[in-house]
Amino acid sequence: MAEPFLIGDRMTGGYGGADILHGCTVAVDKGEIAVIVGPNGAGKSTAMKAVFGMLDIQSGAVRLNGEDITRLTPQARVAKGMAFVPQTSNIFTSMSVEENLEMGAFLRRDDISGTIEEVYHLFPILKEKRRQAAGELSGGQRQQVAVGRALMTRPTVLMLDEPTAGVSPIVMDELFDRIIEVARTGISILMVEQNARQALEIADKGYVLVQGRNAYTDTGRALLADAEVRRTFLGG
Ligand SMILES: Nc1ncnc2c1ncn2[C@@H]1O[C@H](COP(=O)(O)OP(=O)(O)O)[C@@H](O)[C@H]1O
Ligand SMILES: [Mg+2]
Repeated sequence: MAEPFLIGDRMTGGYGGADILHGCTVAVDKGEIAVIVGPNGAGKSTAMKAVFGMLDIQSGAVRLNGEDITRLTPQARVAKGMAFVPQTSNIFTSMSVEENLEMGAFLRRDDISGTIEEVYHLFPILKEKRRQAAGELSGGQRQQVAVGRALMTRPTVLMLDEPTAGVSPIVMDELFDRIIEVARTGISILMVEQNARQALEIADKGYVLVQGRNAYTDTGRALLADAEVRRTFLGG
C-alpha cells in the first residue's frame, strides 16, 4: 500500500498533562480531500496542531511526501509546503484584505502578485473588498481571507480547522465548492468539520475521531452509508 502524501501516523500526545491523542492517525493523498469529524473535545484540533508541529507528540510520526518531519517547527513545515488555517484568530482583523494576503506570503522572496490574483479569482468578493479591514467582513468572507492567506505560500497541503464555523448553509456550500476547486489544482486538503454530513459528501477520505482515537476510517461515501456512523455521529 502506498504511503499517503501527508500522514500523522499513530500520534500520541497532548499539551503536557494527560495525553489527548491516543495513537491517532490522519492522512491525505495528493489532490484529495480528507475530512476529520467527531464530537466536541474529541481531539480534532489537537490532531491538526500535532500534524502542523504545534505540539510535541510522545510517539508516532508525521511524514510529508515520504520525509519524516516529526521534529520540524511549524515554520519549517510551511517552508516544506504545508499551510494551516487554525480554528480561531486566523486573520489580522485590523489589516486590509490585501495586507492579510501579503502577510501570508511572508516566506516568499519572489513576486507574489500572480498568487494574489489567483486568490481573487477563487474569491472574487475579496478583490472588491481588498482595501477594507478584514475585521469588517462577514463571517464567510473572513474565512475566505483566512483560506486565501494560507494559499499565498503556494502550499502542497492545505489544513483547515472548521472553515465553515458560524456561516450559513448557503455560504458553507459555496466555501466547500471553492475547497473542491483548490483540491482539483493538486493541493491536498486536510480539514476538520462540524458539518459532518456535508463535509463527508465532498471527502475522498473521512476520519471519525472519538476521545483521541480513530473510531471509523473510510471513504466519505462509505461513512455516510454506515448505519452505525449515521446513528451515532450524523444524527440518523
Ligand atoms: N491548549 C490546550 N491546553 C490544554 N488542553 C487543551 C488545549 N486545547 C485543547 N485542550 C483539550 O484537549 C481536548 C481536545 O480538544 P480539541 O482538540 O480542541 O477538540 P476538538 O477540536 O475535537 O473539539 C479537550 O479535552 C480540550 O479541553
Ligand atoms: Mg476543534
